[in-house]
Amino acid sequence: MSPSTDVAMTNNRNSSMLDRHHPHTLSTLDFQGASYAAAAKSVKSELDQLKTESKDKMFQSQMDAFYLLFTRFLDERAKRCKLDWDKIQSPSPEQIVRYQDIPECKASQDLQKLAVLKLNGGLGTTMGCVGPKSAIEVRDGMSFLDLSVRQVEYLNKTYGADVPFILMNSFNTDEETKRIVKKYERHSVTLRTFNQSKYPRIKKESFLPVPRSPDSPIDEWYPPGHGDLYESLYQSGVLDELLASGKEYLFVSNVDNLGATVDLNILHYMVEEDTDFIMEVTDKTRADIKGGTLIDYDGKIRLLEIAQVPDEHVEDFKSIKKFNIFNTNNIWINLRALKRLMDQDNMDLEIIVNNKTTDSGQKVIQLETAVGAAIKHFGNARGVNVPRSRFLPVKSTSDLFLVTSDLYKLVHGQLTMNPQRMFHTVPLVKLGDEFKKVNNFLSRLKTIPHILELDHLTVTGDVVFGSNVTLKGTVIIVANHGEHIDIPSGAVLENKIVTGCLRILDH
Ligand SMILES: *[C@@H]1O[C@H](CO)[C@@H](O)[C@H](O)[C@H]1NC(C)=O
Ligand SMILES: *[C@@H]1O[C@H](CO)[C@@H](O)[C@H](O)[C@H]1NC(C)=O
Ligand SMILES: *[C@@H]1O[C@H](CO)[C@@H](O)[C@H](O)[C@H]1NC(C)=O
Ligand SMILES: *[C@@H]1O[C@H](CO)[C@@H](O)[C@H](O)[C@H]1NC(C)=O
Repeated sequence: MSPSTDVAMTNNRNSSMLDRHHPHTLSTLDFQGASYAAAAKSVKSELDQLKTESKDKMFQSQMDAFYLLFTRFLDERAKRCKLDWDKIQSPSPEQIVRYQDIPECKASQDLQKLAVLKLNGGLGTTMGCVGPKSAIEVRDGMSFLDLSVRQVEYLNKTYGADVPFILMNSFNTDEETKRIVKKYERHSVTLRTFNQSKYPRIKKESFLPVPRSPDSPIDEWYPPGHGDLYESLYQSGVLDELLASGKEYLFVSNVDNLGATVDLNILHYMVEEDTDFIMEVTDKTRADIKGGTLIDYDGKIRLLEIAQVPDEHVEDFKSIKKFNIFNTNNIWINLRALKRLMDQDNMDLEIIVNNKTTDSGQKVIQLETAVGAAIKHFGNARGVNVPRSRFLPVKSTSDLFLVTSDLYKLVHGQLTMNPQRMFHTVPLVKLGDEFKKVNNFLSRLKTIPHILELDHLTVTGDVVFGSNVTLKGTVIIVANHGEHIDIPSGAVLENKIVTGCLRILDH
């Protein structure tokens, strides 16, 4: 049983979405039908009102698309669609191939057909930054954005290629991103940007849209997750532009994944095997138990996210044995196949319900989708199990600590592990709340310690590091409430626990 509905499938872009759609869903529902119909009807009338107040065609079509998503959400609730756990199988070795098993490719002719896209809708809020996350400096004075541009520049130069670099922004990140990328124009680097959709948040109790007018405040809207890529790529005209300029493949990744560089082997494999969709997955460790995984369901490869797992199976889902890989969100898409799917309106993705509270304290929900969920719609889709080095996300200042340290070297915008590290594992680093914001992180670390021989670091409390500190083995530094620890410049800590109070003052 698919959690999607026949509703979305029967919709046709050329007729009015809303009117065709509505009577059909009514007939498929039983006793819940009445409240369903009432909710759908009031939302429709509010969305229609919003549409009439705007002259913007894009806005109007987004409200239609949102309505479709909303009715699918109601429908799934009514049917209580859940996966049948017993039907879930581990994917076969043909469905998920190992990176080591795909042929090496030195030739670069496939690059002529490639475009690179970064998902750039997110803000740096969790790391205490205002503005787009991609603007955070991560290495040698360069931001995520700078590093991604470097990588594509390098490809262009090395292979004489012409790889377009595209950013999918959200209404939260667009303005600031455009301001930042201006500097590239001087180097005649062209970046293509487009916005993902802007959907109305829904009140949790009544399911009614929060915004009362198209110009309602920004926190009454939301960008509906990266699964919106497909709709936005299509509606913005970027998909057609790419196809018209001879591009056939799109490499998509999160802008904060510093390991997501263009890999010629995977690209060539995609071309040779004529697959329409590749998801890069990697071996799960205890740190990744919540990541989405690939499964075989009725003979088809599908993404399984924790949100879709029935409560009684959540522990199963987290197990490293049964589901031993997870989605890196590095995704390769055949653009012609995508165009076909979008023309047929065949891209319904599992809905992820995100509960939020607005600044003003209102409880709302956001209906979101994930880009990887599209795997089930593509022909001959595969997972490729890649080395961990292709998954290097920066979600916290602990990650930032690692990627700015001597553990990595920067080569043409690409981070590679320092060959001087003996073990090719990444140390486990946990920095406490005092380090959570980038500003605090920077002020508490005079320089990033040397960590070539570090296995594990935990820091909690009011701790400040001097410059040129070296950490080896397992180091735990705990300043309890009211205490303060200064790690002196030049200190070497190897397998040490530091507690209590240590204050170093200039005199
Ligand atoms: C993208 O969003 C920004 C911020 O809301 C807006 O100023 C800009 O006009 C949008 N761009 C397009 C092409 O709609
Ligand atoms: C890649 O090359 C093309 C063609 O020379 C150029 O338009 C584009 O700006 C280049 N992209 C980057 C990121 O350098
Ligand atoms: C969101 O709230 C609903 C109740 O309105 C609840 O059933 C659901 O589990 C919540 N989801 C999450 C992820 O907290
Ligand atoms: C950094 O610390 C190490 C180990 O204490 C020391 O050998 C080295 O000279 C120091 N370097 C600088 C630049 O202070």
